[in-house]
Amino acid sequence: MSIAAAAALRALSCYDDRGSLKGALTLTDIAAFIEGLPKVELHLHIEGTLEPEMLLALEARHGMSLPYASVEAARAAYRFTQLQDFLDLYYQGTSVLRTEQDFYDLAWAYLSRAHAQNVIHTEIFFDPQAHTARGVPFATVIAGIRRALDEAAARHGLTSRLILCFLRHLDETDAQRTLDMALPYRSWIAGVGLDSSEAGHPPSKFARVFARARSHGLRAVAHVGEEGPAPYIWEALDLLKVERIDHGNRAIDDPSLVDRLHGARMPLTMCPLSNLKLCVIKDLRDHPLRRLLQQGLAVTVNSDDPAYFGGYMTENFTAVQSALGLTAAELIQLTRNAIDGSFAGESERAAMTARLAAFARTIY
Ligand code: ADE
Ligand code: ZN
Repeated sequence: MSIAAAAALRALSCYDDRGSLKGALTLTDIAAFIEGLPKVELHLHIEGTLEPEMLLALEARHGMSLPYASVEAARAAYRFTQLQDFLDLYYQGTSVLRTEQDFYDLAWAYLSRAHAQNVIHTEIFFDPQAHTARGVPFATVIAGIRRALDEAAARHGLTSRLILCFLRHLDETDAQRTLDMALPYRSWIAGVGLDSSEAGHPPSKFARVFARARSHGLRAVAHVGEEGPAPYIWEALDLLKVERIDHGNRAIDDPSLVDRLHGARMPLTMCPLSNLKLCVIKDLRDHPLRRLLQQGLAVTVNSDDPAYFGGYMTENFTAVQSALGLTAAELIQLTRNAIDGSFAGESERAAMTARLAAFARTIY
């Protein structure tokens, strides 16, 4: 770690137990610390990394015409009052992804940025139904992403896992068909997830397809408690038998659920800037992340759809540290939770833990 990062870590320790600032701390100090922190991302939609620049480049590559005259016009359209507003633009954006090269370019751009931000391991969602419904073969999607993942491992030592998400606004039969398409690629896929419009689409709708996926050794996660209520989180645990909760903000409403999540050491993959942009919270200072962390939950920080929500991992850590006054120990704990909750193998997790410990040792 650089001298600046070590100084920043000492400075961050100037918060007392309640998060109040005891000593002077400059923005440069915090930036150096967050930059130096080895990061692990567990909640990232590859289609949500499509920056306006690439959207327009792919539009031109394929001779298409989308409603944006410029990069600025596209970015200006990214204003949302709820999840569905975002999903409408997100699915429209996927229309430029057609060839294996497109998926490779998309994934490689994300992995390069992640590496530049000191992300050492990432677990990536993809939404095959958003592509197969347009006639793009499953093989095209996964082969492009996979090529980029292999290259990131070889060139940067950046490890990864791939998680196939079922779109919950579609029916169970469509999800089962998607699982059929995925099974020939079983060795490239670590798990299944559930995303898209939450309200009115409870996890129970997908209990059978998740059971079938688990019978093939796939791990299970689900988006719940983002806009949907706490009972959806119970369903994800009891019916889908998930190993991680994606978002889970609404757990804070139900003390018995908090106890259950605590007892199970269940990771919550929280996404601060996403929640702000989609009006899940009004202000980052209201975010439940720190309260849940202080209750002992295995909370993590993630970027969700960074091209649409104004930031990748570093920007999420920076925003949430500033809004909630997170201490150095809490920032390190968030990363420890991500390592422990990841689907990486035992030796990969041990190596990440050692790297985090080396970072922390330079100041304690
Ligand atoms: N798909 C991409 N991002 C999502 C989010 N934040 N919630 C639900 N589905 C999504
Ligand atoms: Zn998400």
